[in-house]
Amino acid sequence: MGLDLYSRIEQYLDFEDEVYSLHKEFMTFVMMNEFDNIIDIGCGQGYFLENLKINGKKAFGIDLSAEQIKVCEQRGVDAKCMPLHDVKEKFDCATAIFDVVNYIPKNYLKDFFVDTYNVLNENGYYMFDVNSLYGFSVVADGSLTINKEEKFIAVDAVYDEDELNTNIILFDKQKDGLYKKEEDMITQYYHDIPSLKKVLNEVGFVVESVTDYNLHDFDKPDKHMLICKKVSK
Ligand SMILES: C[S@@+](CC[C@H](N)C(=O)[O-])C[C@H]1O[C@@H](n2cnc3c(N)ncnc32)[C@H](O)[C@@H]1O
Repeated sequence: MGLDLYSRIEQYLDFEDEVYSLHKEFMTFVMMNEFDNIIDIGCGQGYFLENLKINGKKAFGIDLSAEQIKVCEQRGVDAKCMPLHDVKEKFDCATAIFDVVNYIPKNYLKDFFVDTYNVLNENGYYMFDVNSLYGFSVVADGSLTINKEEKFIAVDAVYDEDELNTNIILFDKQKDGLYKKEEDMITQYYHDIPSLKKVLNEVGFVVESVTDYNLHDFDKPDKHMLICKKVSK
């Protein structure tokens, strides 16, 4: 899947304000609960890990994209390119910020939540966001082009039958003046709140809150934030 190509175009998407406001919500949660030991699942380029570090927190990140982890290493945060299933340490809090859970197909969601449950200490907390149906079908659906720094980027996202398929094309100018074309696809999956709650409960989480969130300033909330607590089975 196109996670590495996404990583290379992420900085041109102009999402800084949105990412900042989303991270602020997660950071408030971490600080208010005084969590000291956090795993950031799908840590991307490590912005949240960096902020945790600045706030004196012990933080570790994982991501499936090697390109994202390269940027984390340059940033000086503790992160590895590895599946969640292979993480052996335990944490007081797990975060999965900015669509990470939407990358998980429905038939793998339970396994992913089990893996999250297993990296948490008893009574540990899990906070994540997912796109609302409005977020996928109205906000994300559509096309955009970007022409910056000798790069031409085309992103075309189509929402249909609970899936958002985003085609990414990058034309990157080479030293010889010619453009190299790369193309890949990312698929994200819509998960409604009742199904998420059902799977989380089966795994051993209590869903303490579900909050609507308006990330992109549209008419309706485009995201939901979930706060879950690990309880003994
Ligand atoms: C939109 S980015 C968000 C990155 C970061 N959390 C942030 O807030 O900036 C989603 C990230 O999830 C990662 N990802 C997708 N599926 C994953 C999985 N199963 N395990 C770990 N990371 C995953 C992608 O590689 C990507 O870096």
